Amino acid sequence: MPIVRGLPRLKAIIGDLKKKGRTIGFVPTMGALHEGHLSLIRQAAKENDFVVVSVFVNPIQFDRESDFSSYPRGLRSDARRAAEAGCDLIFAPSAGALYPPGFQTFVDVTRLSLPWEGRARPGHFRGVATVVAKLFNLVSPTRAYFGRKDAQQARLVQQLIEDLHFPVILRVRPTVRESGGLAMSSRNSLLSPSERRRASGIFDALQEGGRLIKCGQRRGEAISRRMRVVLRRIPDVKIDYVAVVNPKTLEPLKTVRLPAAILAAVWMGGVRLIDGCVVSTKKG
Ligand code: PAJ
Repeated sequence: MPIVRGLPRLKAIIGDLKKKGRTIGFVPTMGALHEGHLSLIRQAAKENDFVVVSVFVNPIQFDRESDFSSYPRGLRSDARRAAEAGCDLIFAPSAGALYPPGFQTFVDVTRLSLPWEGRARPGHFRGVATVVAKLFNLVSPTRAYFGRKDAQQARLVQQLIEDLHFPVILRVRPTVRESGGLAMSSRNSLLSPSERRRASGIFDALQEGGRLIKCGQRRGEAISRRMRVVLRRIPDVKIDYVAVVNPKTLEPLKTVRLPAAILAAVWMGGVRLIDGCVVSTKKG
């Protein structure tokens, strides 16, 4: 399986696939691939003729230099895992190739970028929207695969596709979890074994929120208050935010209507973890 670094080579391969009328499934990642990423790749392989996975630790979406420099990297093992899951090509450009000197065009999904992760990490979603738009242009995917764990990101990408008329079908896939419930994340490798165990409490809080909604609780604030109680039981956790929101606008729901999204972000030691789920009438 080729690992392509240069843009001209990628363009040649994609051009050839398009000429042959092949469908392209695309999974953008920042590497350190885990089961969450692999589930997206497997799904892409099921639904498309050819699967491209990008591995690019996008500097412009990091608000803290320490987060960027400590972000786990390992292209060789990523390539092996991705190939086993059905990837046909890894696109791993250099930062210089995507952001050459003189680069100055950014994509801003204005309103959806403001709350939650956007407030906590200024500039983050501008960086995400910009790189996703660039990657869509380079890869020309038929379908693109994103995880529900990053619920705000997935919603933002949906808006980006609509607003900029990208001919891309968005697939948002369920969160893959460790056995204790902790959402798989590249940053989990930065947790100590004890922090990792304790971090499964984030899932307990989401489940508690979901349970209250299913039991008929409709006051958003009461639900998030109860989730905060569950989170505060985790030793040494610092809550960033917990909210029950409208999955379309991401605005907090005073009165819960279904489907509703639950978002949570906490600090465990020096690591920031986020999780999210959607509560709907349907299962899932
Ligand atoms: P990254 O964190 O590597 O995630 C890549 C994709 O995998 C995202 O769509 C994310 O939601 C999904 N994902 C992560 N953990 C998951 C899990 N446990 N279950 C299911 N899916 C999961 O998100 C990014 O990279 C970047 O912001 C990117 C979109 C690549 C732009 O740089």
